[in-house]
Amino acid sequence: MTDAAPKAAVIGWPVTHSRSPVIHGHWLQTHGLAGSYGRLAIAPEEADAFFFGFRDSELAGANVTLPHKLTALSACDVLSDSARAIGAVNTLWREGERVLGDNTDGYGFLANLDQQLPGWDADRGLALVLGAGGAARAIIHALLERGFDRVAIANRTRDKAEALATSLPGSEAVDWDSARDPDPAVAIVVNTTSLGMGGGPGPAIDLARLGPDAVVTDIVYTPIRTELLVRATAVGLRTVDGLGMLLHQAVPGFERWFGVRPSVTDELRRIVLDDIAEAS
Ligand code: ATR
Repeated sequence: MTDAAPKAAVIGWPVTHSRSPVIHGHWLQTHGLAGSYGRLAIAPEEADAFFFGFRDSELAGANVTLPHKLTALSACDVLSDSARAIGAVNTLWREGERVLGDNTDGYGFLANLDQQLPGWDADRGLALVLGAGGAARAIIHALLERGFDRVAIANRTRDKAEALATSLPGSEAVDWDSARDPDPAVAIVVNTTSLGMGGGPGPAIDLARLGPDAVVTDIVYTPIRTELLVRATAVGLRTVDGLGMLLHQAVPGFERWFGVRPSVTDELRRIVLDDIAEAS
């Protein structure tokens, strides 16, 4: 590398709809930094060559999105603890000849709750996670790291919940149908399924059974107030929307590539919400 302004990008297939350039572009502008952040569409059949050649690329680092999070992981020389535990990489950077990988999804999930609802984790007993995909894995790992005693995983396809529970001690699979009538001891409900996206119905769960201090959060952020969050508010529960997870997961990468730790502000939220509204 020379002392040229650092370049970073989001890498995916497709990558057109990624909000990452809006987020990083805002931070570059706010901090008056010379650097750039773009989009790179890499087809699945090119992914091995691209990631294994990353050490020689002109990029200082990258965000990695679907479907490349596993290929990126196998191309790293060094992995963070969370990337290893989650088994996927969403943030890459270079140090000399080495490529390093991290997974910041769990960090983003926790940082969003910490910012929007300080004290949300006063009761670290039982958490209920709906869904068992890649996002669920990062979130369950984060909840266990934060000190939750138990994480119940309910997924339409039970086998996937079982597989996750086996690899994340402290979590357990429960029946998808049993989540309709959740254990009143549940302190936080997290929707990681795509239910509710585009304004459709969220997961069928009787939120009125939960205690008054329970928190409900959704990783779906289109719309920003999902049907699940609207129902939670209607029964008096505290809610946190999912946009902040997307914004906070971007923070560690930006700091590594551009050397400044950026903030997630109301202004950034507004800019990204406007971008989403324009695109739809
Ligand atoms: P991500 O990486 O965002 O977690 P994913 O790996 O595609 O995405 O996972 C999507 C999750 O939404 C899965 O848990 C999926 O359940 P299955 O494992 O049974 O497919 C869940 N999901 C998607 N559509 C659903 C629906 N109509 N009802 C219930 N769960 C649904």
